[in-house]
Amino acid sequence: MTTPFGSYELTRFPEDPRDQLRAWDAADEYLLRHLDAGTGDHGPVDLSGAGQITILGDRWGALTTALAAYHPVQITDSYLARAGTAANLDRAGIGTAKSTVRLLTTQDAPPERIDVLLVRVPKSLALLEDQLYRLAPHVHAGTVVVGTGMVKEIHTSTLKLFEKILGPTRTSLAEKKARLIFCTPTATSTRAVDPWPVTYTLDEDAGSGAGLTAVNHAGIFCADRLDVGTRFFLQSIPNNTNGARVVDLGCGNGIVGTAVAVADPKAEIVFTDESYQAVASAKATFRANVQRERERADFLVGDGVSMLDPGSVDLVLCNPPFHSHQATTDATALRMFAQSRKVLRPGGELWVVANRHMGYHTHLRRLFGNSEVAASEPKFVVLRAVKQEERPRPM
Ligand SMILES: C[S@@+](CC[C@H](N)C(=O)[O-])C[C@H]1O[C@@H](n2cnc3c(N)ncnc32)[C@H](O)[C@@H]1O
Repeated sequence: MTTPFGSYELTRFPEDPRDQLRAWDAADEYLLRHLDAGTGDHGPVDLSGAGQITILGDRWGALTTALAAYHPVQITDSYLARAGTAANLDRAGIGTAKSTVRLLTTQDAPPERIDVLLVRVPKSLALLEDQLYRLAPHVHAGTVVVGTGMVKEIHTSTLKLFEKILGPTRTSLAEKKARLIFCTPTATSTRAVDPWPVTYTLDEDAGSGAGLTAVNHAGIFCADRLDVGTRFFLQSIPNNTNGARVVDLGCGNGIVGTAVAVADPKAEIVFTDESYQAVASAKATFRANVQRERERADFLVGDGVSMLDPGSVDLVLCNPPFHSHQATTDATALRMFAQSRKVLRPGGELWVVANRHMGYHTHLRRLFGNSEVAASEPKFVVLRAVKQEERPRPM
């Protein structure tokens, strides 16, 4: 990426040589050009004397890397974005020591005072709403607020959120299908209250989840209702876990793992997701339904199950993602299946719910040597694959 601040070699995370997608786009470039111009059409932005710079929602660290000389704080909900940023900074010879760049998550306390707030508009309007509410008390009347996104990502509802939570807002002309958002914060004592997190109770048709409470932080998958695929999964997952070590992989609000914990108090549940908001939701969902001290659970943010030991898991339950940021892809699901095979003990099982048309049975059969349909309905299937004993290779 060539910018007025320098040229950088950037990659997405985890790095995959077959990945054709760039780690930056025209929205990142537009914002960086605007900042360099110093006197944009929204007044001067002199970064060297600007004070504290906070970057919200940087996708793969393009903004943070280009602006590293100004000691920004990055705030992201994505473990992959954070790890990608760290790798890109490293490649540019910039560390993440406190004195250079600080990488925070949506669950961390924001900087005390923010003088420049740069917002890469996230896919989730709810996440934007929640984060603007969280940051608003740290913004002052002199804070320069500039948002950026592709034209297709910025809607009237996006601008209304900036207006409602921070102050008067307008947009730039589009350049290369990207647009900037200019917002002038006003000190107001009548700010509405952040509506997140939200909770709902599962109805009696939700299988082993019936009657449980789901707690949802902003931005997570299906935050306001039970997903139809998850509902079908809850109606189909095994109920004979017998104290097993079970992973709720890509846990979202953690309702699947919590249902197992309620049904089998001896089971040890590991909740994992790449979203900090999701793992916080899973923790809250678990606590809302499982009060007893002796319940065993871990809540881990990371890429799939890459943080678990090989052969350490009895059962993996997964409703895999079909998007990575804006792109529709099965790459993450396939990575999750391969990782699952590694962490399962011989005889351990991976259960997957998916839209029938994803055709995951072929991938599972290739990876595990077997795959059977555990449950099916017109739109969804639940597939089960069993890890086989490793056969010694012939000499
Ligand atoms: C389809 S949602 C399922 C959420 C939840 N299990 C449910 O059924 O409601 C997929 C989840 O995978 C998570 N995810 C995406 N990429 C991931 C990755 N590389 N590692 C771990 N989780 C990931 C998403 O954040 C999302 O919560």
